[in-house]
Amino acid sequence: MSSQPAIPDKQVEHQHTDKGYVPVYTTAVVEQPWAAYTAVDHNVWAQLFERQRALLVGRASDEFLVAQDAMGMTPDTIPKFDELNDILAKATGWTIVGVEGLLPELTFFDHLANRRFPVTWWIRKPEQLDYLAEPDLFHDLFGHVPLLMNPVFADYMAAYGRGGVKAHGIGPEALVNLTRLYWYTVEFGLIRQADGLRIYGSGIVSSKGESIYSLESDAPNRIGFDLERIMRTRYRIDTYQKTYFVIDSFEQLMQATAPDFAPLYARLATQASHPAGAVLASDAVFHRGSGEGWSQDGDV
Ligand SMILES: [Fe+2]
Repeated sequence: MSSQPAIPDKQVEHQHTDKGYVPVYTTAVVEQPWAAYTAVDHNVWAQLFERQRALLVGRASDEFLVAQDAMGMTPDTIPKFDELNDILAKATGWTIVGVEGLLPELTFFDHLANRRFPVTWWIRKPEQLDYLAEPDLFHDLFGHVPLLMNPVFADYMAAYGRGGVKAHGIGPEALVNLTRLYWYTVEFGLIRQADGLRIYGSGIVSSKGESIYSLESDAPNRIGFDLERIMRTRYRIDTYQKTYFVIDSFEQLMQATAPDFAPLYARLATQASHPAGAVLASDAVFHRGSGEGWSQDGDV
């Protein structure tokens, strides 16, 4: 069995999402076909795991590293979802469920609201170690799942799911605003620790290049977290980010996003969005990006 058996048959449509134009497969929860992983699949996991862990010590947030250790993930073999769930459910009440790929928004929000995190069961091929347009097992499991062990972040993710269900009912513009929050926190967030900026966003921790770029390059802006500012800011799906937003703590994230967003959506509907690389007079600037290497169009 290859690493991605039968997926072309299960593809149901393409959908334009915040991750680009990607295939959407069956929306059903699927059993992780663990016995079907090949030696090549396990080896891809091992290579990616070892490479990223080495990079992330000193770069990822302490919370992320502690949580990943507590889950017992190792490079030895692709983890079994059932075994991780024994640990995760006890810690924060979350479970991971296997899926074929990206889900329709409402289905995704419903999972999160009910403390289920959808994890793509298949893993990329050896020639895709550095880049894959759609999420795979490594991005979802290595990148997203560890922080679900953190009680505050776990609550934030569930609250985000409930917020998503609400925004879906309000309309597409509200969803655009909310998706930017997910993008700039869950996927590409930085956090300030006593010893400097660290990474917690899944899109960064699962990327070798962006793990270095997000913290060490002069090119991107690094700006203090501001909910409304983030919801007005476009982003990149095809290159590294032009701007990273920095939180002080997961508690800050939880508190800032606790109020009802409906009045915020109404206000944002009357305002133009900011380009991905903009720096505003009102920003708390940790680093003003040089802009080196930025392409001028392509913000979404
Ligand atoms: Fe993701």
